[in-house]
Amino acid sequence: MDKLLIQGGRRLSGEIAISGAKNAALPILCAALLTAEPVTFTNLPQLKDIGTLLALLEQMGVKVAREGGTVTLDASGLNNPVAPYEMVKTMRASILVLGPLVARCGEARVSLPGGCAIGARPVDQHIKGLQAMGAEVAVEHGYVHAKVPRLKGARLFTDMVTVTGTENLMMAACLAEGETVIENAAREPEIVDLANCLVSMGARISGAGTDVIRIRGVERLHGATHRIMPDRIETGTYLCAAAVTGGEVRLTGTSTGYLDAVVDKLLDAGCEIVSERDAIRLSAPARLAPVNLRTAPYPAFPTDMQAQFMAMDCVASGVSVIRETIFENRFMHAVELQRLGADIRIDGNTAVVQGVERLQGATVMATDLRASASLVIAGLVAEGETQIERIYHLDRGYEGLEEKLAALGASVRRLS
Ligand code: EPZ
Repeated sequence: MDKLLIQGGRRLSGEIAISGAKNAALPILCAALLTAEPVTFTNLPQLKDIGTLLALLEQMGVKVAREGGTVTLDASGLNNPVAPYEMVKTMRASILVLGPLVARCGEARVSLPGGCAIGARPVDQHIKGLQAMGAEVAVEHGYVHAKVPRLKGARLFTDMVTVTGTENLMMAACLAEGETVIENAAREPEIVDLANCLVSMGARISGAGTDVIRIRGVERLHGATHRIMPDRIETGTYLCAAAVTGGEVRLTGTSTGYLDAVVDKLLDAGCEIVSERDAIRLSAPARLAPVNLRTAPYPAFPTDMQAQFMAMDCVASGVSVIRETIFENRFMHAVELQRLGADIRIDGNTAVVQGVERLQGATVMATDLRASASLVIAGLVAEGETQIERIYHLDRGYEGLEEKLAALGASVRRLS
């Protein structure tokens, strides 16, 4: 298994480009299942999860033509609406094929994604919504089996805000008979990017980005070309990496537009941020002030940035309180940060962090995607060498991580 070796203590400076958003690309690639015409996507990040999803689509009969960050999918030959366990278990976002397959083929067999390190991750809301639209759904032998001649528009209300639940149901509704209204919809920017892609394919959607999305079903969708939006979590991660090292960086191909809550916290921590049309500049003080966080659905502070900020708070000049309200087990980076000398006390979904003067490098283990990013950030500022094991987690969500960090002056090496 690959490891990452980081020599801490270097101030990050320079400029890097931000990649396309993983969490926009995943649902948008699944949208290609909704039409028999070719769909082309650009600015696709080269990530493990993207490769996994493309392989999953290919075994369904979708033709995949990929050239770097551009891919064209042709689902005219879609003949196997099945997502097998062996593939779904490595990437739970595979559940996003469920809605499109039921809408396009009238049936689907998708393995239950199962939980992951950060929580149980149930998909009951996805199923409830499809049932409300007339699908017969059985959960047996670890698979969701859905069948319906044609989905019917309905008024859907999810019990909690769910990002992929909203995406699955919005995609399913595009080809349903009549109008669907999704209440309590998630408002994440990736949902707006998906809606924009679907509309360019002929879907009739309004309200994406608000908590009420209306979709008027059409007979079929057509091909289109869509550019994936920038990755706001990758952006936030590099802003934190620069901030914790007292650095000064410019990130291009991105914007603060979808990061208001994160930018606010970086300003509170003492950073200066300049927002350009297609770039962000950050300069950080020698030592950050502590910031309190409470994660919540967009536009509030994103749970996907919680671990990165905890790493920053570990060396801040005071005490901070972090509350995680989305997932039940998203503090696993805390015990690894403690190995680096952090002073963190966990009480349920609340972490109290007492900033220390400095962290000491050590060997730590990555447990999930954003926890790994947190350990990288801590390693950048820890004294001496930090070795991060199981970094396949990182490769799922960060394109060219060590190249980008090295371009900013970090001393980072991958050991295979
Ligand atoms: C998406 O996951 C993201 N993944 C996650 O990013 C992100 O952390 C999460 O949204 C929250 O913003 C993708 O977009 C591919 P949810 P998702 O459904 O859709 C509960 C990363 O690091 N719930 O919004 O799976 C659920 O257990 C990943 O890039 C149900 O109970 O999250 C959680 O507690 C990690 N039943 C809460 O809702 C359901 O049917 C929010 O989950 C669905 C969700």
